[in-house]
Amino acid sequence: MSDTFGGSTAYVGIGELVTCDGTGAAGLGLRAGAALVVEGGRIAWLGDAGGVPDADRRVDLDGRAVLPGFVDSHSHLVFDGDRAAEFAARMAGERYDGGGIGVSVAATRAASDDRLRELVGRRVAEMRAQGTTTVEIKGGYGLTVADEARGLRIAGEWTSETTFLGAHVVPPEARGDRAAYVDLVTGPMLEACAPHARWADVFCEPGSPHAFTEDESRAVLTAAAGAGLGLRVHGNQLGPGPGVRLAVELGAASVDHCTFLDDADVDALVAAADTTVATLLPGVEFSTRSPYPDARRLIDAGVAVALATDCNPGTCYSSSMPFVIALAVREMGMTPGEAVWAATAGGARALRRDDVGRIAVGGPADLVVLDAPSHLHLAYRAGVPIASALG
Ligand code: NIG
Ligand code: FE
Repeated sequence: MSDTFGGSTAYVGIGELVTCDGTGAAGLGLRAGAALVVEGGRIAWLGDAGGVPDADRRVDLDGRAVLPGFVDSHSHLVFDGDRAAEFAARMAGERYDGGGIGVSVAATRAASDDRLRELVGRRVAEMRAQGTTTVEIKGGYGLTVADEARGLRIAGEWTSETTFLGAHVVPPEARGDRAAYVDLVTGPMLEACAPHARWADVFCEPGSPHAFTEDESRAVLTAAAGAGLGLRVHGNQLGPGPGVRLAVELGAASVDHCTFLDDADVDALVAAADTTVATLLPGVEFSTRSPYPDARRLIDAGVAVALATDCNPGTCYSSSMPFVIALAVREMGMTPGEAVWAATAGGARALRRDDVGRIAVGGPADLVVLDAPSHLHLAYRAGVPIASALG
């Protein structure tokens, strides 16, 4: 988010400033009576309102809360096609198994570059309107060399956090020879996509015929690391499995979903807490009518936890971090403070970023203002659009 006004702006009348500087309850670093000066898209000054320096413009926030912009560290925004009927069928009792991904793959392949660009742009704008200022975007609905490279090029027009997901599912035309598809992903597809990606991800879910086994996932991730990409894993979403331990073994920045974990998974995440974040995506459990991950167990054990939307056409077509925060509090036993931290600083950790997800002098002025006096209202006023980017 950048300040469109040319000079410096002093923000005063901030009811609660959430800095996420690691101090205080949940590391939120709450400050009362604080003010900020923003200049050139950066935080130029932060301190008590009484000492605020002169600025070209002064904005009185009238008691509203200010937070770091949300860091949505997991999304799949590059797709065309509609799967609302699949959602309705699930609400009527059908189970999710990843099979619907093929519907999005067909529609995405058929879309023109301009059409895909417009769809991604609209989704990014929708996120920003709800307070998300950093977003990770995965490919994964092209599943050919050309379509995956195209998706990442388009995603890169909006974010530097782009993720190669050629191993999302085995596409229909490759079902007869899975090994050949893994060779394609680890060979020509990785080569074409690596220049456009910061990360690589894999849908490691041996229980699903559409997704990848432990050995296939290890092959994809090892090749991607060799090509210089950071690692992320979709793991333990549909059932117990090897995803979490594989992510930890390979030093992935994040393992996402973490819905079905055993004690050994939790122990592995605790031991790797400085390296691997557990990213929880409760919008998925909402949209697939599944049991929620046990966030309390993870946090109490000392696991680093992030929250993200997973915005995608199959398991959660919501771009709203406030919605995710409300679900985390209501359905996963997180305190409002823990949920806000996980949606800001936690997301930044999952992306190995230390510039975003907090408010600090010298950092980007990626700020959210709430039409409310404190961060508690994000979960308290669920469904009400109180969060917006400031500037
Ligand atoms: O994160 N699990 C795999 N991928 C997505 C869903 C993709 C889809 O159904 O289109 C997810 O849930
Ligand atoms: Fe996902």
